[in-house]
Amino acid sequence: MTHLKAASLTTEYRTNPLGIDCKKPRLSWKIISDERGTLQQSYQIQVSEHPTFDTLLWNTGIIHSQESLHLPYEGPDLKERTRYFYRVKVWDNKSRESAWSETAWWETALFAEYDWKAQWITPDEEVIDRLSEPAFCLRKEFQLQNDIASARIYGTGLGLYELYVNGERVGDELFAPGWTSYHKRLQYQTYDITSQLQAGPNAFGIMLADGWYKGNMTWENKRHIYGDRRAAFFELHVRYNDGTEDIIVTDPSWKAALGPVVYSEIYQGEKYDARLEEGFSLPDFDDSSWSLVQEQQMPVGQLIAQENWPTKVTEVIKPIAVFTTPSGETVIDMGQNMVGRIRFFVKADKGTKIILKHAEVLDKDGNIYFGNLRKADQQVEYIAKGIGLENYAPHFSFQGFRYVRVEGYPNQENGLSLEHFVGEVIHTDMEPTGEFECSNPLVNKLQENIKWGQRGNFLDVPTDCPQRDERLGWTGDAQVFIQTALFNYHGGPFFTKWLRDLKAEQHPDGGVPFVIPAVVGGANAAAWGDAATIIPWEIYKAYGDKRLLAEQYDSMKAWVEYMRRQGENEYLWIVGFNFGDWLALDAPSGSYSGATPKDFIATAFYAHSTRILRDAAKVLGKWEDAKSYGLLLENIIEAFNHEFVSKSGRLVSPTQTAHVLALIFDLVDGDVKKRTAHELNELIINNNYHLTTGFVGTPYLCFALSKAGHHETAVKLLLQEGYPSWLYSVKKGATTIWEHWDGIKEDGSFWSDDMNSFNHYAYGAIGDWMYRKVAGLDMDEELPAYKRIRIQPAFAGIHLTYAKAAFESMYGRIQSAWSITADKIELKVEIPANTTAEIVLPFAQTANVSEGGNPLAQANGIYTYKEKDDTVTLTVGSGSYHFQYDNKNGLMVEFTKNSRLIDVLAHQSSAAILDKHAPWIAKPPGIFAMRTKTLQELAEFPEANLTKNQVDALIEELNTIEWKAELVK
Ligand code: BGC
Repeated sequence: MTHLKAASLTTEYRTNPLGIDCKKPRLSWKIISDERGTLQQSYQIQVSEHPTFDTLLWNTGIIHSQESLHLPYEGPDLKERTRYFYRVKVWDNKSRESAWSETAWWETALFAEYDWKAQWITPDEEVIDRLSEPAFCLRKEFQLQNDIASARIYGTGLGLYELYVNGERVGDELFAPGWTSYHKRLQYQTYDITSQLQAGPNAFGIMLADGWYKGNMTWENKRHIYGDRRAAFFELHVRYNDGTEDIIVTDPSWKAALGPVVYSEIYQGEKYDARLEEGFSLPDFDDSSWSLVQEQQMPVGQLIAQENWPTKVTEVIKPIAVFTTPSGETVIDMGQNMVGRIRFFVKADKGTKIILKHAEVLDKDGNIYFGNLRKADQQVEYIAKGIGLENYAPHFSFQGFRYVRVEGYPNQENGLSLEHFVGEVIHTDMEPTGEFECSNPLVNKLQENIKWGQRGNFLDVPTDCPQRDERLGWTGDAQVFIQTALFNYHGGPFFTKWLRDLKAEQHPDGGVPFVIPAVVGGANAAAWGDAATIIPWEIYKAYGDKRLLAEQYDSMKAWVEYMRRQGENEYLWIVGFNFGDWLALDAPSGSYSGATPKDFIATAFYAHSTRILRDAAKVLGKWEDAKSYGLLLENIIEAFNHEFVSKSGRLVSPTQTAHVLALIFDLVDGDVKKRTAHELNELIINNNYHLTTGFVGTPYLCFALSKAGHHETAVKLLLQEGYPSWLYSVKKGATTIWEHWDGIKEDGSFWSDDMNSFNHYAYGAIGDWMYRKVAGLDMDEELPAYKRIRIQPAFAGIHLTYAKAAFESMYGRIQSAWSITADKIELKVEIPANTTAEIVLPFAQTANVSEGGNPLAQANGIYTYKEKDDTVTLTVGSGSYHFQYDNKNGLMVEFTKNSRLIDVLAHQSSAAILDKHAPWIAKPPGIFAMRTKTLQELAEFPEANLTKNQVDALIEELNTIEWKAELVK
């Protein structure tokens, strides 16, 4: 019995979302099939208010269509505060009919026009000392009847809030209500608290801190950016079994007082006095000394149901060491530069004060280094209540750190026990979607660092860094990293929310602020403002999200029109302020902007955004726009060539970034293109395989080289270990991506304090190229969301012996995994149901290739194959495939620690070398015992009697044998 099913049902990207306000939510599913070449032929969706589907609200009937992503609900109008169950059935191209999927659901919250009963409440000014700004507590006691069927809280705060009911925390979400452009859009959250309520007396408690709303923000230490009073706004709806309801809302009957969080700021940290914990959300709590609150009109924009995934603790890590620094401080090492908070456990006398101060790195003397935090204290203070085992982690502040200085922990002079400390990693709870690995362990570490950089900086908004007095949604940084981000983690809800804020904050003239939410002045920089066009387009490509593209279209167009209006010549952008190639190594001394002229970069991005706009117009059927922006693009390219290319075809700027942009944005053609490609390659080679690019050039550098036929140069750049390079920081012990190529210099000293983040994701943008070009997992952009996949490994000469990447697409898992040994090339591919793929096998001949042990002609699921210039190109349907062919085209591997002995021995001359270095191994029974082991493992076998250094020497010698030189060419 073969198997076909619709699974992993999602609504607006989310699994069973509680509390959405979209009136036509879009449904998606994946198809699971145990047969190759599965395509959906038809589907049926049923929606009901009952999990039994006795009565149907919407039944599509059988719809003949391959669509399985983003199908909008088109049934009768949805009601508020209602759960809708749905299920899907599919038919495939093999005439199979699936059973109904497992039931999934979405639940509506309150629509935009809802008439809220809640009032904004805020304590009396006298309760709150406006200078010290502690978090305050709000509470309300209420009675409920028997037979509670369900209960939901809807609401939000200005400031950051935590909810409590009957002494328990509600939900595990942190930093609610998240960060949006509060004056334009404010998220409210929905919580299901049915199980936390009881008949009789209950109590509702809220803790509210400053947060992004009115706390200290930006390097200018601004306060009260959105307002100077915090306030809460909540409705609790309790439904009884008989259908009646009680509603409890924030109103002037609530009471307020200060609580144990005596100070809390995003950058500075938190002070918590556990002696002040009172159980304020318990029903029998005596609040007679509390004061009444006031109703207050608050300056809020549209209330919207939570759009992003919540921010949560996603992992708990243990410290790896505690030590005393040369200057005598006790420091804990988390082993990872992480973002979140320390939770500690302590038994201490009442009043004991414990102080933690967080930092990213140690200086060259081994002392903890706070300089790069600038004005962000990252300090947490706890005063013990002296009862039992206490445990604490800050509520409304997060830190970016690997090291923590501890002061005041009881008996710490006699040694700290690491068991009492854990690191809670906090970020937007996005679904991990990408994996990359290859034969170079340093590159694998780089990949890990890139992911950590993303986790640390995706805390509700995409930030530049998580530690210093910044942590802002810099548009340029987000744009630079977007492709890599969308490989590593699902970015749908995260960027939907952020792009809507970008649109909301865009200036009337189309200008785009530097940061979103726009809490610092300044707008309209090339490669920064282009986040407005690039990000919606990338989301469309990755997930096929046409609705978001349509929503953002005006914003995209306004940005292009903004650029068009700059200066005299509408086809060039050569006036005004720009950041340029930020932090590039060819920057003149004293400048952060690289040597590539800013107007060159600005015009190049103007062209890039115009092309995206033209393509978006085509996708959305805006034919007039498609035509006129197509024309505009042609004119910009012509003007670019006139302005920035000499008559004889040389770019006016001799930088790597200039060459990269000209190539990658298709700004040059014909002989100029050839020359530019050649010169880019020369620039790298002449610089001894080192890059000089900054934020703007780096994401495209390796793509431009691969595209121009210099893939091996690109791989050498990736594998470069000397400064500057991606692996330089890895070798210096980095566990995240640094802001500067030389955040820590070769002599161990630092780049200057004023701007030296060790957790800035921008240079992690290389990840996209690793997935697409090194592992070869790519898409056909004509059919977005990986409906049509392109698998095209680009072997890297002798440099890598395997690479594999996997991506959990909206259709399901895609994989491309290749390996090369001295005589065999293998490629393992996974293609999800309801997609097809083109697979390109380099250095192959049809007759030579097998799939699953069969000649291609006999392999199931392969639609076509053709051979041209030593390349076999196949089209296939879904399924897992295993291709193998002889490595006889002069494509050779380098011996590395991961080479297996058996492959080494496949070469005559290697036996003698092995015999010399490892006599025991080279003779039976050693040879038989060890043949499947790698060279690396040799050093771990006591019988082999080889040290790591000797293994290295062996590898080096193996790599000098004559035949290799011939084969590599
Ligand atoms: C941020 C960047 C940002 C830049 C703008 C810095 O302070 O950290 O990453 O893009 O300013 O030039």
